[in-house]
Amino acid sequence: MLEKIKETADFIRNIIQDTPDFAIVLGSGLGALKNEVQALHTLDYKNIPNFPQTTVAGHGGSLIYGMLEGKKVLMMSGRFHYYEGYSMETVTFPFRVFCLLEIKNLIVSNASGGVNKNFSVADVMIIKDHINMMPEHPLRGKNISELGPRFVDMSEAYSHGMIETAEKIARENNIKVHQGVYVALQGPTFETPAEYGMIRAIGGDAVGMSTVPEVIVARHQGMNVFGISIITDLGGPDIAFSVSHEEVLHAADKAMPNVITIVKGVVKNH
Ligand code: HPA
Repeated sequence: MLEKIKETADFIRNIIQDTPDFAIVLGSGLGALKNEVQALHTLDYKNIPNFPQTTVAGHGGSLIYGMLEGKKVLMMSGRFHYYEGYSMETVTFPFRVFCLLEIKNLIVSNASGGVNKNFSVADVMIIKDHINMMPEHPLRGKNISELGPRFVDMSEAYSHGMIETAEKIARENNIKVHQGVYVALQGPTFETPAEYGMIRAIGGDAVGMSTVPEVIVARHQGMNVFGISIITDLGGPDIAFSVSHEEVLHAADKAMPNVITIVKGVVKNH
């Protein structure tokens, strides 16, 4: 495992010839950030040794290295979800590579269902904490001590400093933001009304199918993490709301400019 990670990191390092300041996962709602980066290199996943391959036809996925707000960023366009059938090792492989590339900061974005009664569709939630309800833990198994410790402190999974910056940028740009707890379930079904109710009851504000495995692995390696979520639909035992993938994408597009403004602010100031 470690040999594979090293081989992949060496391959990428040889091409980009530098240490990026940030890794950024372009989840739903952040795709257009690609258009704002001055790209220096684009590496298709299919040409990167050991890199996982996407299951979606026509969306092969790529790493884009370039400059954003004066910082060096490595963007992941196309992520790997547990519900697609990948193992946790595969889902988190790119983040292991980012560690060996010595990238100190990670930004993750996603679409999620809101269960907090104060949330509306297309709102933006800064992730202040998470609850992991995925059925498999990415750090289960023999610990690779070159990457991080056996028992990982999760008291500041999401960087307080970056959250503060994001709040400031939102205020300055009149963007309404919430802070909240993201709960990760495996999917791929959206939740039943009773399940949305459970998410609310355990202290969640939003629920989704990604992000948490990546964040756990990043924290294992001591990276600073910033997470941002677009509320694409609302759920709860009291809400008669159906949800489709199209509606999720539509709401994500609506919130995208706000998310991009906040992420650029975080990149600039850290
Ligand atoms: N649940 C889980 N994942 C999601 C949702 C949801 O309601 N909306 C967008 N991704």
